[in-house]
Amino acid sequence: MGLKEELNVILQEAGKEVKKIKDKKLFDEIRVKFLGKKGELKNILGKLGSLSVEEKKEIGQLANEVKDKIQEMIDEASERIEKQERSARLKKGVGDISVSRDIPPIGYYHPLTVVLERMIGVFKNMGFTVEEGPELEEEYYNFDALNIPWYHPARDDHDSFYISKGKLMRTHTSPMQARIMEKRKPPLAVVVPGRCFRRDAVDATHGHTFYQMEGFVVDKHITFADLKGTLLTWAKMMFGPQTQIRMRPDYFPFTEPSGEVGVTCPVCGGKLCPVCKHTGWIEIGGCGMIDPEVLKNVGYDPENVSGFAFGMGLERIAMTVYGIRDIRYFMENDMRLLEQFVK
Ligand code: DAH
Repeated sequence: MGLKEELNVILQEAGKEVKKIKDKKLFDEIRVKFLGKKGELKNILGKLGSLSVEEKKEIGQLANEVKDKIQEMIDEASERIEKQERSARLKKGVGDISVSRDIPPIGYYHPLTVVLERMIGVFKNMGFTVEEGPELEEEYYNFDALNIPWYHPARDDHDSFYISKGKLMRTHTSPMQARIMEKRKPPLAVVVPGRCFRRDAVDATHGHTFYQMEGFVVDKHITFADLKGTLLTWAKMMFGPQTQIRMRPDYFPFTEPSGEVGVTCPVCGGKLCPVCKHTGWIEIGGCGMIDPEVLKNVGYDPENVSGFAFGMGLERIAMTVYGIRDIRYFMENDMRLLEQFVK
């Protein structure tokens, strides 16, 4: 048999053997047998020595073609078997682990959540407990218990969403002062984060829905100095040890005296910048000594116990810390904003 015929026989044999194969692992054996260093094709090429240049060229070319064909048959068959194995796996209910999939996107924290959690952490460290209250509030707790009777002009600042007679969406978190004091005896140190609602015209700094954190402490001998020390400690833990606070006289019906609280601008540190509107200060809320009328309304004796309270706006703090310029962004859930807050 000439070399040409031998090559043809090899091709046919390889074809038969490839067809018989049911297990992918056996392809390697075939590859070695026909195409390997000591395989059948190499064997033929070893015999070229005695041939003329012409014949060498012809047989050499043919040998190359045979090699390619065998390789092709092996590749095709191995792909076919792989497919069969995969569909068998799928039929058995085993997941197809070779299929690539998109990694689910990671979630992001809302900037208000980040600020809220930090605030809660700081107040917990100072010994406060955290409580929550109803968003749908009774007029009594939202106003009357807080020394804001129906004829009080302060009600005008709390343009409200009334849901039914005597029930409204709370306009601040302060009603929780009354609810908690009514049920419990001092000493109390509580913060109440929560969502509030006002029928305000919406613009870059006003929302109809916003977050506040209320805080109050009641015990014997609580003074304005305790209030100031608590807020200063909070501000330093929240914005850094260089932070200072200021309190300017203000009026709230449920505290007397009352103050407006500001912190040195966390962005410029008081050196004046656009965030603090070149004042060096950021106003973050109101505070004061709980009015004796409020203490009486919840059944406490103002001669015996005293307390302080404060209420802060969380959006204001988040806007300052993160340089967010428009309060409406907090409600829009635009991923371009949110994805900056991976935790
Ligand atoms: N509730 C007030 C508001 O929404 C904020 C406030 C001021 C809360 C003084 C207080 C306080 O506890 O003492 O405008």
